[in-house]
Formats: sequence, C-alpha cells, structure tokens
Amino acid sequence: MKIDNNIESHLIEKRVFKPSKDFAKRAQIKSLDQYRRMYRESISRPDKFWGREAKELTWQKQWKKVVEWKVPFAKWFVGGKLNLSENCLDRHLASPRRNKAAILWEGEPGDRRTLTYQQLHHEVCRFANVLKRNKIDKGDRVIIYLPTIPEAAIAMLACARIGAVHSVVFGGFSADAIRDRIADSGAIAVITADGSYRRGAIVPLKKNVDDGLHGKTSIKRVIVFRRAGNDIHMEEGRDVWWHRELEYVDANCPPAALDSEHPLYILYTSGSTGKPKGILHTTGGYLVGIYSTMKYVFDVRDEDIFWCTADVGWVTGHSYVVYGPLANGATTLMYEGAPNWPEPDRFWRIIEDYRVNILYTAPTAIRAFIRWGDEWVAKHDLSSLRLLGTVGEPINPEAWIWYHKKIGGGRCPIVDTWWQTETGAILITPLPGAIPTKPGSATLPFFGVDATIVDEKGHEVGANVGGKLIIRRPWPSMLRTIYGDKERYKKQYWSEFKGNYLTGDGARRDEDGYFWIVGRIDDVLNVAGHRLGTSEIESALVSHARVAEAAVVGRPDDLKGQSVVAFVTLKSGVEPSFTLKRELRDHVGAHIGAIAKPDEVRFAEVLPKTRSGKIMRRLLKEIASGARVTGDTTTLEDFSVLTKLRDSEE
Ligand code: WT7
Repeated sequence: MKIDNNIESHLIEKRVFKPSKDFAKRAQIKSLDQYRRMYRESISRPDKFWGREAKELTWQKQWKKVVEWKVPFAKWFVGGKLNLSENCLDRHLASPRRNKAAILWEGEPGDRRTLTYQQLHHEVCRFANVLKRNKIDKGDRVIIYLPTIPEAAIAMLACARIGAVHSVVFGGFSADAIRDRIADSGAIAVITADGSYRRGAIVPLKKNVDDGLHGKTSIKRVIVFRRAGNDIHMEEGRDVWWHRELEYVDANCPPAALDSEHPLYILYTSGSTGKPKGILHTTGGYLVGIYSTMKYVFDVRDEDIFWCTADVGWVTGHSYVVYGPLANGATTLMYEGAPNWPEPDRFWRIIEDYRVNILYTAPTAIRAFIRWGDEWVAKHDLSSLRLLGTVGEPINPEAWIWYHKKIGGGRCPIVDTWWQTETGAILITPLPGAIPTKPGSATLPFFGVDATIVDEKGHEVGANVGGKLIIRRPWPSMLRTIYGDKERYKKQYWSEFKGNYLTGDGARRDEDGYFWIVGRIDDVLNVAGHRLGTSEIESALVSHARVAEAAVVGRPDDLKGQSVVAFVTLKSGVEPSFTLKRELRDHVGAHIGAIAKPDEVRFAEVLPKTRSGKIMRRLLKEIASGARVTGDTTTLEDFSVLTKLRDSEE
C-alpha cells in the first residue's frame, strides 16, 4: 500500500487477541460495548465527560467552562485553579496511600531507595523552598538536566508546586543542546548532578552544563545534586549544592493556586526545519489527560507496581514515570541505567526482584532483547506481570508476539499506545479489558479523541487506504503552542488542514476501524523510539571545519527502527579517510548526543539536488538502503550524481 512517496506498508496482520474474561472482569473498562458507549459520550458531550474526570481531582477553585476553542488555541477548565504537585502528593496524604511507596528507585550500580507519598511530599516541599530561596519564582523557566533518579521527580514537582516552568533536557544530550534550550526558553536556573552512571561509566553532567554556559547566558543559578561523586568545578556565586541548600529550609510550602492554563513545562522535540521546538504544556488539561489515560489504559490498581522504562528526559518519562502514576496514587518504579548492564537481563531481574505488575517499554528495546537471546529472560520469574505496554514507534508483529509470549507468558494484554510529545498523553490505544488487540496496531482512539485519516486534499479515506493521521478537535493534554513561536505552531500543526491537528504520521485504518501507524512523513527520523530532526544532524555535520555539505536520511534498521546515514561532501582539498568518518561521528555525538551519531558516514562528491537546490532525500534513502533508485528523477539536476553516490559505498 502506498501512503506517500516514501512510506509503504506491506503489513497484513490477521491475528486477534481478545482480553481474557479474568482481566476484563476486574478492569476499569470491561467490554467493547462499554468502551463504545463512553467514547460516544466523550465525543458528543465532551464537557460532561471531561468534567466528570476532572472532578476526581483536587481543584482550589472550580472551573467555569470545560473547554474554550478558538482555532488553533484551546483553553481547558477555564477559570479553574489547581496545583499539579498537590494532586500528585497532598491529595494522597489523607488516605492510607500516605504510607505507600510513591517511588521505588534503582540506580545503575544497584543502589536502591524507596520514597513513600509522605516522604516524597516532604522532599518536594523542602526543595520547592530551596527554589524560592534561590529567587526562582512563578513563571520562571528552569532547566532540569538530571539522570533518572528520584531528584528528577522531586525537582519537577517542586517547580510545579511554585508555578515555575520546567524544561527537562535528556541526560544523553550534550552542552550545545543545553545551550540552545537555555537560549530559547530564557531559563534562569539549571538543576543538575555532578554525574550519572551509564554502562558503568560516569557521564559528566555538570561539566556539560559548564560548557553550555560559556559566554552570555540568562542562567543565574545552578543547583547541583551529588550523585556520582566525580570531581567538578563549582562556580563561585553561581553554583550551589542541593544538599547544602536543604540545610536552610523547612518543609512548609503550600501549593500555589495556579490558573488551569498556567504553563507547566516546555519539552523540546525535533522539528523538520532544524531548530528544536519547545512544546508547551499547561496545568489543568495536562493533569486530566495523564490522569485518565493512566487510569484507563494501564488500568492501574492500588497494589500495582508500575514500571515505565523511559528516561525522565522524554515526554514518556514526564507523563508515565512521574505525573501519571503519582496523580493516580500508584507506585512508580524508576531505573537509572542501561537495560544491558551489567548483563542483558537487568530488566528481568528488576521485574523479578520488585514483583513488577505493569511494564511499559519501547519496541526498540524489545528488539534488542530478542537479539540478546531468550536465555536471559528464562532465568527469571516474570509471573508478577499482568499488563504490558509499548510506545515510541510501530511495533513489528514478530516483536509483539515475542513480547506477548516470552515476557507476558501469553497471559498479559499488550497496550500499543500511540502518542507524541505534542499530545501530552496517549491518544490511540487499546483499553486492556475491553479492546481486542491485533499485533502491530494501536487499535482505537482514546476517549475524546477524534482521529481520522485523510488524503492530500483533506478528504477522509476509506478502509485500508493510507493517508495522513489528523485529529479533528482539541483534547485536554494537547500542546498549547510552540514556546515563543505562535506562528510556527499555527503553521506546523493547524494550517495544512485548517482547524485539524496534523500529527505528521502516515497511517491507515482497517475494516474494523483499527489504526495502523506507519511512521513519520516528514524529514524526521525515529531512532530507537526517539524523534531526531535530519536537519539538526546535518547542521552538526556542517559545523565541522572539513565538511562542505551534508544530507542525512534514515535507513530501516531491525533493531533501532531507523538508523542514521549521512552523505557528506568535503571541502576542496580535504581527503576522505576512515579517521575522518570516525571524527565526524564523534562530532555529531558531541554536538547533539550519542543517539544522533550517524551509523554510517558516506563521502560523496556531490549530493543529488533539484534545479531549485533542494536535496532529493528520497533518492538518498533508496541508495542508503541499497535499493535501486526508482520513481521520478526528472527533477534531478545532474544524473551522473547517482552513479557517483552508489560508488561512494565502501
Ligand atoms: C512519534 C512521536 C510519545 C512518546 C514517545 C515518542 C511515533 C509513538 C507510536 C506507536 C507507532 C508511534 C510516531 C509519533 N510513535 N508511539 N505506538 N505506534 N508510532 O514521542 O518523540 O514525540 O515521537 O513517535 O511517529 O509521531 P515523540
């Protein structure tokens, strides 16, 4: 099936897995009928549906209107006042949840910590007072650059408590990424650690921050948590230690009453035009979105241990490591390190040791486990698991079946959840007690989500015809804008099909209305479940003194979904060499982070361009994957380029 010039789907999957009676009986949503009834209500009477969900939470002031929609700007729970940290913490202190584990944490070296709701509340209040003491106020932007340790959650919740806007930067990103995000957000403080552990080595987080702060910066304060004990530089007058600051504060910090539309966080994600976009999420709608999806999709129960394996630096870490589980009073497990450290059975060991009930991970991880071998899984008792989830990219049916059999023991439903940084919460997903699953399909829309597939002209397409995935109405946890760039927000998401949200994904719907997401249709790669802009990698390459021009494309990769292939032309006089290839890979690693390092660098004399100078990526993609160049090449300026490029292969 053809979707776009560059996206094809040959997937025809016929297997169907019905929820077991036992699972359905105890689930929040118990049947397809119940799902359909509630879905219909959520679409025909969204005010009623979302109002009811929101009422399960704590509001300091009741909202006047559920939603106000002035295309493309939405406001949810208009006039309401609330505090997210109050909903994640204080709300549970009046019940037996007070003494329940909020966070179970395991560090990569094997150290462990447990924080009950009462303890977490105490730590968050104290750290919120540290923020205030350091002149961080409501509305100020704060960069959080921490490993997946409890302090990341504490820092996020403390910001939310006083109304400061956090922007978490993934710990695998480099100094340049920190610098860009500070510049774009105008942040005044950074919260970081001396270092973090990754595969036994120490990642120098504080050093990266120092490098990112060279020259002119808006940052006035850096708060440093001692994690790895590595030697660091502390800048007099700017840097303070987390543990020292705690000595000056008490634990009395009432949650600020914030407007429902008060900004909660900015999270940067790759766009197709180079500069990362600061996706802005606000308070009330986001809370309701993550609260409801956590409740219905993960069907979380009070006695459950929920483990989402994402790093806190990604949106999955925000919504389903920290805010979603805590808003529901659940126990969330956090793990700091790599899945194959010290050996490829770390995840299974953790599940066995803690008796984890719900596991939420990424297809790329699942494919890695398959490759590492079943013997690592077989060594462990995984019988505590009752529900599995995936997110980040389409899961191939083979991986789905392996996950179902080997990890789920054939008894756990799998929720394949489709969503994006922009959507804040899960939008297309099975509900585990209600919706039969088909391996590879994210199945049906969540409550209130009006999703469909359209052709280039915006006409809805029929069953099994590919097209673009759009959402036709606002939903509570949607992004509100691109930080500081309303125009880009309008143009990027709402202009191609006026009044409809453009997801940027290609998809089809089958005869049962099930969604099959094929992947991105723009110049964004999905590497190991993470979105990377090709143009960002290209600019990193071109910033190298010997590079003239670069074009980056994705190549299908069994393990990572897509791997990064860079075509590079060198400045005149520069000799191509193996050492230079390695240098360029490291250069990208230093500028963006290891995840963006090209898997392959190919030197080319010229790049294929149209007469107007646009690089023809489609051709490069075909060449990169070793395929014959097919399709239209009439806009190509110089045909000999193709042969030359093919010869560029080693
Ligand atoms: C893109 C969003 C949402 C958290 C992780 C990534 C792809 C995500 C699925 C899924 C097929 C998926 C899409 C989407 N994607 N989940 N279940 N099936 N594709 O967040 O970096 O904002 O990336 O990831 O292409 O647009 P993100």
